[in-house]
Amino acid sequence: MKAQDEIQRRRTVAIISHPDAGKTTLTEKFLLYGGAVQEAGAVRARKNQRAATSDWMELEQQRGISITSTVLQFDFEGFRMNLLDTPGHQDFSEDTYRILTAVDSVIMVIDGAKGIEAQTLKLFEVCRKRGIPIFTFVNKLDRPTREPLDLLDELEKVLNIGAYPVNWPLGTGFEFKGVYDRLDKKVHLFERTTGGAYKAPESVANIEDQIVADTLPPHVYSQVVEEIEMLDIAGEDFNHAEVLSGKITPVFFGSAMNNFGVELLLDAIFQYAPVPGMYPALGEKVVKPEDSAFSGFVFKIQANMDPRHRDRIAFLRICSGKFEKNMQVHHPKSGKKVRLSSAHTVFGQERESVEEAWPGDVIGLISNDKFGIGDTLTSDSKIIYQGIPYFAPEHFIYLNNPNPSNYKRFRDGLEQLLQEGVVQGFDLNTHSQNNFVIGAVGPLQFDVVKHRMKSEYNADTESLPANWSVLRWVHPDVDPATLTRDILPVGAITATDRLGNTVILFSNAWSLGLFKDKHPQIALSDTPFRKEMMAQT
Ligand code: G4P
Repeated sequence: MKAQDEIQRRRTVAIISHPDAGKTTLTEKFLLYGGAVQEAGAVRARKNQRAATSDWMELEQQRGISITSTVLQFDFEGFRMNLLDTPGHQDFSEDTYRILTAVDSVIMVIDGAKGIEAQTLKLFEVCRKRGIPIFTFVNKLDRPTREPLDLLDELEKVLNIGAYPVNWPLGTGFEFKGVYDRLDKKVHLFERTTGGAYKAPESVANIEDQIVADTLPPHVYSQVVEEIEMLDIAGEDFNHAEVLSGKITPVFFGSAMNNFGVELLLDAIFQYAPVPGMYPALGEKVVKPEDSAFSGFVFKIQANMDPRHRDRIAFLRICSGKFEKNMQVHHPKSGKKVRLSSAHTVFGQERESVEEAWPGDVIGLISNDKFGIGDTLTSDSKIIYQGIPYFAPEHFIYLNNPNPSNYKRFRDGLEQLLQEGVVQGFDLNTHSQNNFVIGAVGPLQFDVVKHRMKSEYNADTESLPANWSVLRWVHPDVDPATLTRDILPVGAITATDRLGNTVILFSNAWSLGLFKDKHPQIALSDTPFRKEMMAQT
């Protein structure tokens, strides 16, 4: 019974957003409401605090940005939230995509004045491929925003998904006074508190109540009443099954900075977001969270968390069974049994030892270089997870070793970073001497590589730009010998990934489009085709 209870009370969620939409602020407010921090500091203080908890890596500190992501865990009214933060800078990396493979739902934060932005769209595509439910939080309602109906329209058109406003804003900008909850038909009036440091006091009323008419300016009140009526008449009913299948996104309005609508969003996540689900394993096997065997997979490797130790942390998403400290598990990739003696929850640089954990939880295993991305750890040797797909890099460089005498260090360092999945490596099909490129989803990863090569392996690097921006894997049925220069667009080249699969690098999306038009029979994909082509055991 305990296992079921533990699973039912867990939600494992990632927050995605375009930089500056308010993801960090919302995360911080979740922690405030979850009681993990007593007082959410003013934004400045928060940014400083973030420097202490999340931006631990030297490079991050130098740049004042958050490259790597952190896993936060907090309790709220008997529930437990595992919140996976994703890198907020526009130079996001493949890690961001990988994190989406380890969560059961996603909160998408949108700036109410801006609507859907490019990065949100990219991340959304990955969610859609996995069929993960998405909850949308339209933020910054305390400032003038676009018309809420416009925003819903854009969500539906751009993302090609239904949008169901669970609540509706009562005014925007200075006139923003609260939201109307369409499911329980209650008005939540908020009060502004300076800096949003404490939970926002709110009063609950019916829309017809005098207090609502008195609080809102008359023109806002009449507009809101009209809009709510219109939504009820013209819109569909709330369909939870469609939320779970990712067909519709429930939409919430609020202001993270002012704590408006944060608690309502949290309530809804616990009520409507899925509990930890089943995970597919090799051999058509599906592992259920309530299965007694412990199992999980590594979705992220974090090196260098503690500069004094230079260790690596492998982040493991638990999929089934119960984790207990010191348990012995199979590591199918190495064929060895390993004792999990050093599992931690990780909050920025702080680590706390974990005694037990359940499906949906994420634990950090101090691993040196034992574990790789996609690795399975399990007490049942028959379970092997399908691994995590590689995602197509969009930036490429040639990375050379300027010191021939240091060749070994250079090679070993690069090999380790490739294995960790920091970047991907490709052998170009060319006779020229420069026949190897590294590729990344975000160019910042190249700085991470150079920095780590120097600091961890004492290896200097020299990089040269490589002018491709689109990569596609070629279906394994296509004979690479047929991909001759005559059929490739100008500037495109074939290459091989580290698992021996053929890819094509194109100069740009236009060039890819041209190729697809001319050769529709050649199947291409932005992730590898076969399971065996994934980063895995
Ligand atoms: P991110 O993680 O998505 O990149 O965004 P972050 O939370 O850092 O927020 C980006 C900016 O938006 C911050 O201001 C933050 O204060 C502001 N913000 C977040 N939520 C709200 C909101 O509900 N209303 C308003 N008006 N602003 C909000 P900044 O100018 O970048 O930082 P600072 O100069 O205030 O420190």
